[in-house]
Amino acid sequence: MWPNNVGIRAIELYFPALYVDQVELEKFDGVSPGKYTIGFGQSKMGFCNDREDIGSLCLTVTQRLLERYSIQPCDIGRLEVGTETIIDKSKSIKSVLMQLFEPFGATDIEGVDSTNACYGGTAALLNAVSWIESSAWDGRLALVVAADNAVYAKGSARQTGGAGAIAMIVGPDAPLIFDRGIRASYMKHAYDFYKPDLRSEYPVVDGPLTIQCYLNALDNCYQKYCEKAEKKTASLVSLDTFDALIFHSPYCKLVQKSFARIAFIDFLRLSNDEAIKKYPQLEKFRDAKLEKTYFDRDIEKAFMTLSNESFKVKTHPSLYISNLVGNMYTPSVYAGLVSLLISTSPENLAGKKVGVFSYGSGLTSSMYSLTITKDAIPNSPLETLISHLSYIKPQLDARKCVAPEDYTKILEQRETNWHTLPFEPQSTIDSMFPGTYYLVKIDEMYRRTYARVPLFQ
Ligand SMILES: CC(C)(COP(=O)(O)OP(=O)(O)OC[C@H]1O[C@@H](n2cnc3c(N)ncnc32)[C@H](O)[C@@H]1OP(=O)(O)O)[C@@H](O)C(=O)NCCC(=O)NCCS
Repeated sequence: MWPNNVGIRAIELYFPALYVDQVELEKFDGVSPGKYTIGFGQSKMGFCNDREDIGSLCLTVTQRLLERYSIQPCDIGRLEVGTETIIDKSKSIKSVLMQLFEPFGATDIEGVDSTNACYGGTAALLNAVSWIESSAWDGRLALVVAADNAVYAKGSARQTGGAGAIAMIVGPDAPLIFDRGIRASYMKHAYDFYKPDLRSEYPVVDGPLTIQCYLNALDNCYQKYCEKAEKKTASLVSLDTFDALIFHSPYCKLVQKSFARIAFIDFLRLSNDEAIKKYPQLEKFRDAKLEKTYFDRDIEKAFMTLSNESFKVKTHPSLYISNLVGNMYTPSVYAGLVSLLISTSPENLAGKKVGVFSYGSGLTSSMYSLTITKDAIPNSPLETLISHLSYIKPQLDARKCVAPEDYTKILEQRETNWHTLPFEPQSTIDSMFPGTYYLVKIDEMYRRTYARVPLFQ
């Protein structure tokens, strides 16, 4: 027998305390006003200085989750990490996190790291769900951590950076329940975004190809999801099936286009008679082939207009954090989930169905759905999960704005010091949030030492 209602029981999100304003960045980069804010739909971009690395990001979010939910290290039986911020070709970040567990004698913990661009967090999450539903499950909880520092070389992608970390507890009797047996994936070989140069933190990016690959993956995942769900439920699947749809968000505008893309696919899935009766003005698009329309302006515009009201209800609330932090890579789609959860009351979320699309360049992608429990009374697991996220909005507001000139200097500093040994970061820890781990030094054998900003100051 599988345990009941396996899903997400707790979530902690961490974003750095520093950000760059996108209006300021437009001026600094000399692009036309509105390009980053309207064209990409981004307001602010979070970033790390030399005090934070992938180890510190994961330590921070994991420790904060354990503390906020009073979870004992021995309660965790599996710990999975998803990241594409690679600092070691052998030693996993999971093993770095064991520093938080070993002191309590908690070493019987399965799992290591998953890597494939922004998809690693989803791979880790699906592994955790599989463990809970497997014969190896011993009744304990799984912990999934996804984190990245998204930085780009100077050029047209730099403003699509971001940074952050998410930690999620997976187990039975969860308020956010994975729908069983209707998961769809699309995986293939592509060179759209990759990090082959281990001397640099920056990716190699073929910008237009990333968009084409993302939309191609979405097309395939959504159609496969519909096929599987229709077989299982014997009812038609469309945008109407979902109360909310969340997407991996490289930048908010692409998510709005993706939502419109789903409306377009729904339109193509209708019978000719139905489509023409319902949308006579769109008849000219009936014969369109999905793979020929990634950059078709007429189709994009028509379906963005058609789906705009629905987008505002079903997806816009999930872009709150993405708009203010930027692309966090692996945590991005889960920051979408957090944004959705804090956008309204538990009562309004109870019983809702949430579609999730996760994409990682290279490429790997999946679409699955979550059903939110109907129980939203005070102190219920759903209400507790949401009330534990009440720090998000005040903490986003409490961040420090850094001028683009200084952001650029910090990135130059990271470039210079990328392989410097021994290394001691020079940035102050003054603006870091309480409870944040920071890098103290890297010694001559590449060993990293961390300390923590006190939780109470
Ligand atoms: C995505 C990427 C290729 C776009 O870079 P770019 O070529 O400089 O951007 P564009 O010139 O296409 O401008 C982006 C949008 O802003 C719009 N825009 C430009 N100036 C504008 C202005 N002043 N006001 C409003 N909108 C503006 C453009 O019309 C364009 O809109 P569109 O997407 O509807 O065509 C680049 O940022 C990149 O490589 N990013 C990293 C990879 C990534 O995030 N990929 C996403 C899929 S994983």
